Amino acid sequence: MPAAPPSIPRHIAIIMDGNGRWAKARGLARIKGHEEGANAVRACVEACGELKVEFLTLYAFSAENWRRPKGEVFALMRLLEKFLKEKTPELQEKNVRLQAIGRLTDLPASCQRQLHESIESTARNDGLTLVLALSYGARLEIIDGIHSLLRELEGGHIDKAMIDVKMFSKHLYTRYYPDPDLLIRTSGEMRLSNFLLWQLSYTEMYVTPKLWPDFRKEDLFAAVEEFRQRQRRYGGV
Ligand code: IPE
Ligand code: IPE
Ligand code: MG
Repeated sequence: MPAAPPSIPRHIAIIMDGNGRWAKARGLARIKGHEEGANAVRACVEACGELKVEFLTLYAFSAENWRRPKGEVFALMRLLEKFLKEKTPELQEKNVRLQAIGRLTDLPASCQRQLHESIESTARNDGLTLVLALSYGARLEIIDGIHSLLRELEGGHIDKAMIDVKMFSKHLYTRYYPDPDLLIRTSGEMRLSNFLLWQLSYTEMYVTPKLWPDFRKEDLFAAVEEFRQRQRRYGGV
């Protein structure tokens, strides 16, 4: 019998990196690179829609990115709010359901309001689920997961002996999503930068030298094509 054709990833996660370098190469302010990154986001949402990918998680702002100069952080927050406000009708039109993971209460109040409004207004869409990782750090997520598990334990809802990989996964921000099948990082950096450390255990990685603002549909298709050639063994033979 012929082997089943390698499938399309159900869940793609992307570390959107290189905005600053993109701007610098053009003699522009870093924020111009972040602004330009919105086009790459749109391209990826469209490409995932066409491929019938179910989940797309985008690393938009890390828990460590708060360490950047105040001006850049402020500009990024303003950009996020503007992006959500302007793009929600388009997400609606494309049947995209927006969700977010991370320490969302760290975001400025107006940003949180807009985020919740966009999430609420797209909640009934049943196409692609677009997950934004905001003020997200994987180590924090694991610590938050441990606290959540301890609350259940102390409340007598679970027994110590019941704790296993599957149960712990249900205490992470990502509890509603399958683990990513494919991780893409732009700008050539070979590191995870505290992104989804638990969930990426058996994810296929694809790194491209392209900077995020230059990333387009063809680039996502190329990553998926390479993914389809990979053999996933999960420790087996
Ligand atoms: C990624 O681009 C966007 C965020 C981290 C918010 P960078 O801003 O990290 O761009 P580089 O890595 O400095 O080029
Ligand atoms: C990772 O990029 C975070 C996001 C893309 C949001 P960084 O640019 O912050 O990562 P490092 O500092 O190069 O590891
Ligand atoms: Mg970077």
